[in-house]
Amino acid sequence: MDFKSNEKLHIMDHPLLQHKLSLLRNEETDTRAFRQIVSEISTLMCYEATRDLPLKEEKIRTPMGEGTFSVLAEKDPAVVPILRAGSGMLDGILTLMPSARVGHIGLYRDPATLEPVEYYCKLPSDITEREVLVLEPMLATGGSASAALQFLKGYGCSRIKLMNILCAPQGVEKVLTEHPDVDIYTAAVDEGLNDQGYIVPGLGDAGDRIYGTK
Ligand code: URA
Repeated sequence: MDFKSNEKLHIMDHPLLQHKLSLLRNEETDTRAFRQIVSEISTLMCYEATRDLPLKEEKIRTPMGEGTFSVLAEKDPAVVPILRAGSGMLDGILTLMPSARVGHIGLYRDPATLEPVEYYCKLPSDITEREVLVLEPMLATGGSASAALQFLKGYGCSRIKLMNILCAPQGVEKVLTEHPDVDIYTAAVDEGLNDQGYIVPGLGDAGDRIYGTK
């Protein structure tokens, strides 16, 4: 699959984003810096992923007069981090969209089968009326992300975007095949996966590096 030319895959090549990603890759970047940079990258990615939000015109009185100006036409998107690493991206998203609603989906990867297992889910009651941004820093095999997207669609969500700081080709291919309607926003697609399902060269275990658990 020549996914790099797929219009649903948005690889963001902004120099600030690429520089920050390289800082994340560096094994010497400590927990505090790693967490901060994940947040900054998420803000930059959010800016790009919300570029096509529809606008409407509204009359607004300024201190100097009145005019017709653009405002968001719909409710703010809902943001759904996939626990646990996705939560590390949340602050950066809420920096740009402070009134966004937030849901959580808990999935872990069975170390033996590498298959996703759901253990938690709490979503905003009006999520089906909103665009949904799913947060998952690492799109590795794509198993967890694809399962989360399937779950959200089953719940009635119809407009979903997936935000991954870093991807493996296998994960991109899985999501584009199983969810051709979903846009993927990412800073890079790396070479592949090692035999434990980690992205190479990647940046290691995002959850462990965000939360300092290793
Ligand atoms: N999850 C991570 O945190 N890192 C990887 O490389 C793959 C999955």
